[in-house]
Amino acid sequence: MTPIYQTSTYVQSAPGKNQGYEYARSQNPTRKALEDALAVIENGRYGLAFSSGVAATDAVIKLLQPGDEVIAANDMYGGTYRLFTKVFEKFGLKFHYVNMQKAENIQPYINTNTKLIWLETPTNPLINIVDIEAISAIAKRHNILVAVDNTFASPYLQTPLDLGADIVMHSSTKYLGGHSDVIQGALVMNDAALREQLYFIQKSCGAVPGPMDCFLVLRGLKTLHLRMDRHNSNGEAVARFLRTHPSVGEVYWCGFEDHPGYAVAKKQMRGFGGMLSFTLKDPSTMAANKVLSGTKLFALAESLGGVESLINHPATMTHASIPREERIKNGLSDSLIRLSVGLEDVNDLIEDLKQALEL
Ligand SMILES: Cc1ncc(COP(=O)(O)O)c(C=O)c1O
Repeated sequence: MTPIYQTSTYVQSAPGKNQGYEYARSQNPTRKALEDALAVIENGRYGLAFSSGVAATDAVIKLLQPGDEVIAANDMYGGTYRLFTKVFEKFGLKFHYVNMQKAENIQPYINTNTKLIWLETPTNPLINIVDIEAISAIAKRHNILVAVDNTFASPYLQTPLDLGADIVMHSSTKYLGGHSDVIQGALVMNDAALREQLYFIQKSCGAVPGPMDCFLVLRGLKTLHLRMDRHNSNGEAVARFLRTHPSVGEVYWCGFEDHPGYAVAKKQMRGFGGMLSFTLKDPSTMAANKVLSGTKLFALAESLGGVESLINHPATMTHASIPREERIKNGLSDSLIRLSVGLEDVNDLIEDLKQALEL
């Protein structure tokens, strides 16, 4: 097994002459093993590991200069939206939030200042699908970088670099780690010059993960394929059960044949994953709260992608940083409930939801 190099510095053979490693903010052998593994599973050439998913996103945005413009999805993780609006807008970057479910919707926002398209697919929490290949084709014509947050799918289900994206980003905290015991982020890319720029930002800004955390994510990767197969099948069974329940309104899961993104999901994904959201016919927050507090197996918590199933209320939890009007406009209602379907016995999971819905 890869050792955990719990090391901050490395002995050098002579002044200015190191033996491949000099200081652990710049390089660490455990991190290197993980970064190489991340590159391989994303079908990329270079991997970089960060201290969190948002630190990885932060590094990508630091490629830009004041005056540059970014086209970002209007439906994405609340923390990404917060980073863009509350941290980076004040440095003179302009973000356009666009519904990317139709790739051509980005066209009117492209101008000579546009340097980056940031997208997430499937989206958090509404499980909308963006056509990575179509967006990348438009971006290539205008020399714009495309970065894809691949957290929800994981590389087992979707490899955006194969579809024309330039950078893949992960919250490794989720499926890559897989056990809810680590916070970490990742970037993977093919272009050597882009890798140099991002590596420079990584070591200059310092958001690097510790070696123990790298070891945990490396261990998580070894079972990613097995876990994802079970997330897929459990996710499907739970989605289909919810659709038949009389108290449930909409169920958002991209494996339904009538999901608006189904054809694209089928084309670019190798499975539909374990993330889904639903509303109740009773739209009140009180009704949602009853379900959110009523499950026994689904634990009420932020995050996703771990072996244990989680239930979450985006409006007050993961997406609370998005202003309410913005949220509602984009379809994220007060009563929306998000599930991260884990690896437990699927009948137990369905029973748990059934009893919570019928309280
Ligand atoms: C889709 C997505 N992207 C990015 C992040 C941020 O990652 P982290 O919490 O590891 O900083 C999250 C976290 O929930 C997420 O769900």
